[in-house]
Amino acid sequence: MLSGFDMVSTWRAGNPMAEARRIGAFICIEGVDGCGKTTQAKILVKNLRRRGFDAVYTTEPSVGKVGKLIRRFVLDRQRRVPAALEALLFAADRVDHVQEEVKPLLKWGKIVVCDRYVYSSLAYQGAAGLDLGWIDRINQFAMKPDLALFLDVAPGRVISRLKKKKSVMETMRNLKEVREVYLKLVQQQRLITLNGNQSVEEVSKSILKIVLGKLEA
Ligand code: TYD
Repeated sequence: MLSGFDMVSTWRAGNPMAEARRIGAFICIEGVDGCGKTTQAKILVKNLRRRGFDAVYTTEPSVGKVGKLIRRFVLDRQRRVPAALEALLFAADRVDHVQEEVKPLLKWGKIVVCDRYVYSSLAYQGAAGLDLGWIDRINQFAMKPDLALFLDVAPGRVISRLKKKKSVMETMRNLKEVREVYLKLVQQQRLITLNGNQSVEEVSKSILKIVLGKLEA
């Protein structure tokens, strides 16, 4: 199967089927709760569409049945369920999301902008004490994205934004630990880091620059 960037080459080589800039690429945006990644993912989709790319927004937990179960059974409650149960449910949802949404969209040549992916499992369930190697193994069906960005915002800054809408994951200590795992993934070059401590406009410009650089390389 063609990867997203093989499809870019096909498009650049003048494939007549690809004139609507249907190039197929899988881009993930990551970060701690309240870092602004949902806003940024949606702005990125708009910016790409404005430039004629066929981009779509998608998210994990997904809108499918397992994703809905996670929102009800894992996220909307007072206490956390065991971390291994969280990891297994998120991995199951990911299989469903990739199979039912991401792969079909890529086949149509769309640019899929995904709000959270396997890196969230590594960061959140890893911060809860699970072995990162095991989390990777149970996510072996999760295809590698073409680009994965980490929007880095100081935990103190996000906690004040989150005051109203707190979930089981959002204590200061937890978010610091989650950020540490994200930084480890940056060091391993699995994620590209971006300074999120700036205005929405500035952050969106930086994201667009990196994404266009990748798409049009
Ligand atoms: P979030 O993007 O905050 O959803 P929303 O803003 O729509 O409520 O994600 C929900 C929570 O799920 C977030 O606290 C991180 C957590 N999460 C994990 O712990 N592991 C995962 O694999 C994923 C995808 C999310």
